[in-house]
Amino acid sequence: MNINQIDQDNQTHPPLEPLRKHCRQEADTANIARSFADLISQLFLHTSQEDPPSRHINVALEGNLGSGKTTFARYLIQALGHDGSVKSPTYNLCEPYLVINNGLEITIHHFDLYRMQTPLEWEEAGFAEYFDYPGVCLVEWPEKAEGTLPAFDLSVRLEAISLFSTDDSEREITLKAKSASGEFIISRL
Ligand SMILES: Nc1ncnc2c1ncn2[C@@H]1O[C@H](COP(=O)(O)OP(=O)(O)O)[C@@H](O)[C@H]1O
Ligand SMILES: [Mg+2]
Repeated sequence: MNINQIDQDNQTHPPLEPLRKHCRQEADTANIARSFADLISQLFLHTSQEDPPSRHINVALEGNLGSGKTTFARYLIQALGHDGSVKSPTYNLCEPYLVINNGLEITIHHFDLYRMQTPLEWEEAGFAEYFDYPGVCLVEWPEKAEGTLPAFDLSVRLEAISLFSTDDSEREITLKAKSASGEFIISRL
């Protein structure tokens, strides 16, 4: 089954509305990231039967400093099969992870473009080919690339609920599909 078929079968057009999830605590964010990872695995199992397999997904991670982008990425990368720590790629722009997920080898590239000086620095660093690898690209601060990145399949925006809240663990997560693969995930989350 290819992704277009999946799309037709589920009749997800016209485009899905953004999906909003309320998180009272970090454990809720962790659960969403784990479900997300599970759906990436399902998507890759479907597309692995394609010839050639189109096993790739680009995810934009949006939100202010401290909103939880790296935290979300950490739970996602670990749920995909990485057995170890996940540090913020703030200084070297990109951290790669190779995992085995459902018997499939997946490369995850976790980017943080916050410190980029010019929009095309990611390309000059040779990162463009990572967006073609079978696997997952997670990009914090995609706006720093000013629209020069390849298309995203979906975006995940994290927002602290209230600046004045005494409970600073509350977050709203908004997920938007931008492709059939993105719709596959968001319609099942
Ligand atoms: N519901 C939540 N979701 C995500 N992170 C949370 C949540 N509640 C508290 N946190 C904390 O907020 C901080 C988010 O930091 P980080 O993930 O580095 O943010 P960013 O990458 O967006 O700058 C972490 O210390 C994390 O433990
Ligand atoms: Mg971060």
